[in-house]
This record gives sequence, C-alpha cells and structure tokens, in this order.
Amino acid sequence: MTTALESPARLTDPELHATGDPHGLWAWMRAHAPVHWQPAGSVPGFWSLTRYEDIRAVYRDAATFSSAHGVLLRGLELGDDPGGGLTLALTDAPRHKQLRSLIGDWFNTRAVRALEGYVRAATRGVLERALDLGSCDFAHDVAGRLSLSVICHILGVPERDHEALYEWTNEAFEAHTSLVAHPRLLEYFEELIFRRMEEPSDDLVGALVNGTVGGDLLTEEEVVLNCENLIGATENGRLALIGGMQAFLEHPQQWQRLREDRVLMSGAIEEILRWTSSATHSMRVATRPVEIRGESIAAGDRVVLWLPSANRDEDVFDDPYRFDIARSPNRHIALAAGEHFCIGSTLARAEMRVLFSELLDTVHRVEPDGPVRRLRSIAVNGPECLPVRLAAA
Ligand code: HEM
Repeated sequence: MTTALESPARLTDPELHATGDPHGLWAWMRAHAPVHWQPAGSVPGFWSLTRYEDIRAVYRDAATFSSAHGVLLRGLELGDDPGGGLTLALTDAPRHKQLRSLIGDWFNTRAVRALEGYVRAATRGVLERALDLGSCDFAHDVAGRLSLSVICHILGVPERDHEALYEWTNEAFEAHTSLVAHPRLLEYFEELIFRRMEEPSDDLVGALVNGTVGGDLLTEEEVVLNCENLIGATENGRLALIGGMQAFLEHPQQWQRLREDRVLMSGAIEEILRWTSSATHSMRVATRPVEIRGESIAAGDRVVLWLPSANRDEDVFDDPYRFDIARSPNRHIALAAGEHFCIGSTLARAEMRVLFSELLDTVHRVEPDGPVRRLRSIAVNGPECLPVRLAAA
C-alpha cells in the first residue's frame, strides 16, 4: 500500500479515479485518519471526511456547513464557484428553501408519476435504437440519451431540439467546461427564457422565469445557472444507469436473480445507488469553529465528504464490498441527506426502474463488448464508455 501519510493527497488526482481504485485509500483513511487535513496543492486546503456517520452529520447541519461557496473542490486558480448564492445547490437558508419550493414541485412523487409514460416511451426509443445497432456504447447511446431527454422534457425544451442539446451538453462535459461556458448552450437557454417571458408555459423554465423567490423574480443569470445546474446534476442520473448496467454485467447471477424475481427491483435500485455512488464528493465551508472527532475545524475551512467511502463503511454495511440486490438494511447516502438531499432522487429511481424493467422485458442478452473507460474526474465517477452488445428477447 502507498505510504499512508502522503497518499490522501491523491484523492484530488483525477487519474486515481479514472485508472486506479480509491477504495483502498478510503478504507485506510476510515480506519486511521477519518478527519484528515489536506494542505493546499492544486486545490485549496481541505478536511476530508470518510466515515458514514460524520458525513451524514455534516449534511444534516447546514447552519454550520455552508453550501454557498460551492459544493465541489475547484482548482486554486478558479476561486469560488460563480453559481455561489444563485443556484439551488449553492444556496443556504432561507433562500435555499424558497428556491427549493419553486423547483421541487417538478420533481416530487406526483410529478414523477405523471412523467412515467414519457420516461417509458423514451426508454423504449433508446433501446430500440440500441437493439438495431446491435453493438453500442451504453453510456452514450442508452443512458445519456435517456436522462438528457427526460430533463429536457421537464425544462420545456421542444422535442426537436433534444438532439442538439445532447450534442452540446456532451461537448461541454468532454471539454470539462461549465455548460454555460458553451456558447451555443448559453444562447439556447437565453432564447428559451425570452420565449417563456413572452408566452408563459407549463414547464420548469416557465416556472423559473415567472415564479418569485422572496417576492422577487429571478434574474436571467439565475435562471440560466439553475438550468445548467439541473442539466449538470442529471449526469449523476446517467451514471447510475451506466454503473447499474456495469454492476449487472460483472455480477450476472444478480441480474438472473432480478429476472426471476422482480419484487427485488426496489432493493436492486438502492444497491446500485450505494454501489455506484456516482457523486464522488460534496464540499461544505464551516461557518463557525467546530470539532469533529477531536480535530478543530476553523470557520472558513473547506470540508470534503467522500460519498463512495461512506457507502462502503464497514461500521454501517455488512460485507460492504459485495454487490447484493437483496441487501437489507441499506441506508446508503449516495443521494446526500438533510436540506440539500437530492431533489432528483425520485426521478433517478424511476428512470432506473423503467430502464432495467424494459431491459429485462425486451432484451434477451446484454454482453460486454470492449474495454470500459472510466471518467477522469474527482466530482463524479463511473464509466465514461461502456461498450455492450444487445440481443432482442
Ligand atoms: C442517482 C443519481 C443521482 C445521484 C447519485 C445524485 C446525488 C446528489 C447529491 C449527493 C446531492 C447533494 C449535493 C450537495 O449538496 O453537495 C444532490 C443534490 C441535487 N441533485 Fe442529485 N443525484 C442524482 C440524480 C439527480 C437527478 C436525475 C437530478 C435531476 C435534476 C438531480 C438534481 C439534483 C439537484 C438540483 C440537487 C441540489 C439540491 C439542493 O441543493 O437542494 N440529481 N444529488
């Protein structure tokens, strides 16, 4: 094993997440340095938390641990996140609560139930196309298309523009720029906002443009940044679909088990969420001095929560490195906790349920069809490319 005292610095190296396995390092940190100070390097200095209970406690104390300076580690040269104080993920109370009640209606159980027909039709569409192709990249051709078309539908992007949005979003992700740094995407949303100002419509962009927060309309910048935030956040939904498929390819007996007993579907979804833990970290900034396990965190310090580590914590999960769709209990924290608990959780679960059910119904065989490439990122993890061969049932 690496020299333990130096190795936690590697967590900020995207290469470790792309080609290595950070789980050995996280296991060592949970046991020996669960509250670990990492001095400034390419990113500012920060505390790393790796144990489930500590991570959960930080999420649940939003007064002490602020989201308003950004929730992801950024290079020193970049400074604070420009969306700080403006987007749902990057606001604190009371504005966060007001913004969340404006956006939340589009993602609650009732809204997602009403969307299920659309999700099913979109899923059948991408699977038919993938079956015609025979061999495809599950990440790009199935999961990516599906999750982007669903969020576009919610935002109110007309169907004819989904393909273009898909291409531009992929380009922005591949270039590791923000979506709004992509001129065509930015232009597109500015136009859509303008149209919604002229003729209000029943979609999320319309709600953002015409709804009020604390009695005021959102600025155009806030609307655009919140749209970006929502599209960016669906990257996690996409990765859960891809990571789930990969987990089943690597554990075919679990796929067979699900095929034989669909009652296991809900448990399978929770286990995929735990297993994939696609959001690699959340960051918070302490608003006051606070102690965690005897370590003194100063006001203004960054605190980084490593979610895949929490979801393999041996104090909470029996045999945590086993993928088991019947795992119970399964109190994973892949979708965070507390006030910033993932607003897209019901939608993400619905997309997973529909996709895996449709795969079981319409696809006879799914087989690996080439090397898997993982994302080079410290923010999200999972396969960037998952080549598969599909055969119809
Ligand atoms: C399985 C897939 C998903 C995972 C693992 C996931 C994970 C997370 C996590 C860990 C957070 C907390 C971030 C933080 O506060 O630091 C979060 C928040 C959020 N997620 Fe998800 N997410 C998923 C799917 C989605 C989807 C499909 C959407 C759709 C729009 C979405 C939208 C959001 C938004 C807007 C927030 C911010 C909520 C707030 O700050 O109040 N997520 N998600």
